[in-house]
Amino acid sequence: MLNDKLHSYIEELIPGREPLFIEMENYAKENKVPIMELVGIEALLQLLRIQNSKKILEVGTAIGYSALRMAEALPNASVVTIERDLERIQIAEEYMSRSKHGEQILLIKGDALEVEELVKGQAPYDTIFVDAAKGQYKKFFEIYSKYLSVDGVIITDNVLFKGLVTEAEIESKRIRNLVKKIDGFNQWLMNHPDYHTVILPVGDGIAISKKKR
Ligand SMILES: C[S@@+](CC[C@H](N)C(=O)[O-])C[C@H]1O[C@@H](n2cnc3c(N)ncnc32)[C@H](O)[C@@H]1O
Repeated sequence: MLNDKLHSYIEELIPGREPLFIEMENYAKENKVPIMELVGIEALLQLLRIQNSKKILEVGTAIGYSALRMAEALPNASVVTIERDLERIQIAEEYMSRSKHGEQILLIKGDALEVEELVKGQAPYDTIFVDAAKGQYKKFFEIYSKYLSVDGVIITDNVLFKGLVTEAEIESKRIRNLVKKIDGFNQWLMNHPDYHTVILPVGDGIAISKKKR
């Protein structure tokens, strides 16, 4: 991962954002909602621009920050995003209704493990962005990779989990188990016969998986 000085240096170079995005960033900070960090989201948006993604599936909306940022960065794209937490759904809907980019977004309410039929109805997706319960990454990947377009890309966030994937001794059993699952997912993904995957130490670590031709 980048050292703190370099990280701050890059963050400071990032141009300003719409006031609504700043408001959302502040809300997330104050209410401990884990939204993508700045350098990570900028990297994600740039990948989407390069890919010229027209249809994006996001697993894990939270308050709608990344969904709205993706919609703003790609005005011709539509975003389908899944969230199960009722309070966050309500807040996401409020922010989406206040933004002119909200119209590009379809929010599917429910557990991503249970809403496949709804997601399938909007397929195929050029990009699938996985940013939900880390212990279930493999399941999300297996369910939704079926709906990826031929040149599609799957981006998975938090694969380095604050650097904990390299820690040998972790006190909390819950965190230890989670780290084990993330490591298992990373090993599985890197050796997946149908995808080329690279892990970049950006933000909390993103895996970029491209379907093999
Ligand atoms: C890290 S946050 C998403 C942040 C968001 N992508 C952003 O950067 O603005 C993860 C969200 O996924 C949701 N989540 C976790 N597991 C889920 C599941 N199985 N189905 C639907 N949502 C889930 C959580 O409630 C949480 O709000």
